[in-house]
Amino acid sequence: MKITVIHGPNLNMTGVRQPEIYGTVTFSDITAQIDRLAADLQITLTQFQSNHEGEIIDRIQACHTDGTTGIVINPGAFTHYSYAVADAISAVDIPAVEVHLSNIHGREEFRRKSVVAPYCIGQISGFGAEGYIMAIKFLVNYRR
Ligand code: DQA
Repeated sequence: MKITVIHGPNLNMTGVRQPEIYGTVTFSDITAQIDRLAADLQITLTQFQSNHEGEIIDRIQACHTDGTTGIVINPGAFTHYSYAVADAISAVDIPAVEVHLSNIHGREEFRRKSVVAPYCIGQISGFGAEGYIMAIKFLVNYRR
């Protein structure tokens, strides 16, 4: 069991950026919380953040050969328009869960559409950092 958590653009600004929407918990607090969960569950977990579409695609592709058995991904704004990120998730054929800190369905119209959703097992949206915890626990118990 190896889970790769991918954080997309601007998520490194969590805690600073629009705290009324994304909360005041910082990105480093969130990644530390995720690492603690992995230690508690005794699973291998790696995290990656990038503001660049190509780097995110490269990281998703790397999951194909690095032993990753489950992907948790918050693609940030790429969620809404990156067919390239969607294609990468589809290409690796590894169970993936899409996570959003905010409830994308209760915000602007353009956020309500996710082009990656068809290639993920499911989507967790609106539960803040708790969404990552839920996604990881789900993948640990998930069997195809
Ligand atoms: C987000 C929602 C996206 O619409 C936005 O562009 C983000 C963060 C979230 O976690 O709520 O950057 O993915």
